[in-house]
Amino acid sequence: MPSVYIKTYGCQMNERDSEAVAAQLQRRGYSIAESEDSADIVLLNTCSVRDLAEQKALGKMRAVAADVRRSRKNVVLGFLGCMAQSRGEELIDKLPDVDLIVGTQKIHRIGDYIDEVLNGKREKVVEVGEEEGSQMAIREHLLDGRGPKAVSAFVSIMQGCNQRCSFCIVPHTRGRERCRPIDDIVQECRELAQQGVKEVTLLGQIVTSYGRGVIEEKGGKSPFVQLLEAVHQVEGIERIRFTAPHPKGYGDDLVEAYGRLPKLVESAHIPMQSGSNRILKLMGRGHTREKYLGIVKKLREVKPEIGICTDIIVGFPGETDEDFQQTVRLVEEAQFDQAFIFKYSPRQGTKAASMPEQIPQEVKEERHQYLLNLMNRVGSERYKRFVDRKVQILVEGPSKKNPERLMGRTRCNRIVVFEGSPRHIGNLLDVKITRAGTFTLYGDPVIFDE
Ligand code: 5AD
Repeated sequence: MPSVYIKTYGCQMNERDSEAVAAQLQRRGYSIAESEDSADIVLLNTCSVRDLAEQKALGKMRAVAADVRRSRKNVVLGFLGCMAQSRGEELIDKLPDVDLIVGTQKIHRIGDYIDEVLNGKREKVVEVGEEEGSQMAIREHLLDGRGPKAVSAFVSIMQGCNQRCSFCIVPHTRGRERCRPIDDIVQECRELAQQGVKEVTLLGQIVTSYGRGVIEEKGGKSPFVQLLEAVHQVEGIERIRFTAPHPKGYGDDLVEAYGRLPKLVESAHIPMQSGSNRILKLMGRGHTREKYLGIVKKLREVKPEIGICTDIIVGFPGETDEDFQQTVRLVEEAQFDQAFIFKYSPRQGTKAASMPEQIPQEVKEERHQYLLNLMNRVGSERYKRFVDRKVQILVEGPSKKNPERLMGRTRCNRIVVFEGSPRHIGNLLDVKITRAGTFTLYGDPVIFDE
């Protein structure tokens, strides 16, 4: 049977989709290749969120077409996911070697499409339509110990996004929100637990919108909090994470859930995008800096050790020095553990792309660098506080940098590297932190409690 190489760009949702595609193809008898050099089918699962992500995938496909196709004419080349969705056929015009363009709602049909190309039934496949019920299709997992995912798994709870943030392409690439029922998600978590998974990360573009308008609130609890409660009951699942919530929908019921559900780890990734209310309004975010800081404060009241991470965009159209300074002050005030900082990238068809006062590239670079430096300082101070403390980690596998050592994550999502034995993999383990790097902790297993 042919072999397939899948390369993934972008968010965890894409990683999850790729994993499901790999599992599906494996079930049909395909093998998974480690690189494009030996693969009969090369699939790039793409991201459109910034221009850089698109350029990377285009560059890669150009290189694959030039190198691989030259020596092996029958290799099948395909683009999957967000860029496939937003650009469709245009990608084949640009790169005529490409055989398959499969959008976000058709990704689970990839096996049939590949068969059709291999059998010569279709010369080119371009499938970017909407498909009802596609949120139910991403169910298969690859848990054969290839990499760290075997102890920790992503679970897709919904697809799409109904927000209209003026900078963002995702509503165009992922479509309207569609949710999976609670029972179905719980069943998937049960199956994962039976296979040894101890941690699940519930995934959605905006998880705080989960079930809105479909599942009723119960006792002041939003459908998302009801889902958390249901997953919490799954035996064998020890840790629950989720990403990403929207500050607009971050209610007190969710804050309170952190106090009530011990498996819900002390970690939150809450995108703030900007610290300036004026820019937040232009972004169409529907929240203010005050609302944002309010959530951070309440979370720290419930869980003082919570690790809070955010996304920030610099250089949004019209962002003045004063607006930027407000973002800087918010980063200092919120004391984030980590931040993903992005330079605004105009996306075709979004409102912000045609706004006046686009910010020059040098200014974006400068603001980006400034915030990166600030975050390194803020983050490393927060990491240092862990030295000499005992923390619980879930051991995922060998450390990427030094495979002689193991790595695991604390409940608050910090990476800990330590010397351990393979029997630790997949287990919860107490370690004592001996040293802190900028975004890594180092420790030793605690053998006896002092
Ligand atoms: N330019 C830069 N960053 C963007 N993001 C989304 N759209 C854009 C864009 N056009 C960032 C946001 C989001 C993260 C996933 O990507 O910060 O939270």
